[in-house]
Amino acid sequence: MASGKDLENTAPLNHLAIIMDGNGRWAKQRGLPRIAGHRQGVEAVTTIVDECVRRGIRYLSLFAFSSENWGRPQQEVEALMALLLQFLESQQQKMIDNGIRLKVIGDIARLSASVRTSLADVEARTADGDALTLILALSYGGRDEILRGVGKVVDEVLAGRLELAELNDSYFSSRLDSGSIPDPDLLIRTSGEMRISNFLLWQLAYAELYFTDVLWPDFDTVEMQKALDDYHSRKRRFGLTDDQLAATGTSGQGD
Ligand code: FPP
Repeated sequence: MASGKDLENTAPLNHLAIIMDGNGRWAKQRGLPRIAGHRQGVEAVTTIVDECVRRGIRYLSLFAFSSENWGRPQQEVEALMALLLQFLESQQQKMIDNGIRLKVIGDIARLSASVRTSLADVEARTADGDALTLILALSYGGRDEILRGVGKVVDEVLAGRLELAELNDSYFSSRLDSGSIPDPDLLIRTSGEMRISNFLLWQLAYAELYFTDVLWPDFDTVEMQKALDDYHSRKRRFGLTDDQLAATGTSGQGD
């Protein structure tokens, strides 16, 4: 019989996903406009991107702008887009130097032409990066991504390029925006909310979930260490028994 220790999750964390929540509350606590919280949130993004590279984490997915965020006041939407453009401008050389590849997921057709152009430019310029893939979810909703994926599959079936019998988990995954990117191992959500909020609905099927009260602008390397310690203390079963996991060495760790 395997002991609990044997089953600790010792495999490297390959893919980290984060719902960056609490920017507005961070600003409100300081009597600042909401955009000040978003600006500080970008600082946290650069800290955590660097930390992922340092730890050898291969994929980082960040929920930067949801489908629902289009409903925020126009001024806030514009400010978020301006921050995104500044981020791309200020970080692209560092991304190239550090082997960071940018990938965007979401309904990007809704983004302005200037944002789309800038994203496409940085995606192209960082395409050879092989240290970390930074996945920015923009104008993103999990249900929307799944529906668009279903549309692609239906088109393929109707065009005779796919037999329905060939459709399985991995094929459908490949038709999502995230394509061949492996599923997240760990989802972190900041600010005390305990919801998935339409983020990576398909891909998070087996992810460990970690919720912290810390607001996103305050999330730093110390907080990340706490999340990773917690992750590594979990048993990942993937629907199997302890004995099966011990026999196959499925549960695993590192970063
Ligand atoms: C949630 O906080 C955060 C967002 C809606 C946007 C996240 C955006 C950033 C961190 C900055 C832009 C990112 C990049 C990669 C340049 P909230 O506004 O919902 O906070 P609240 O719940 O406290 O109001």
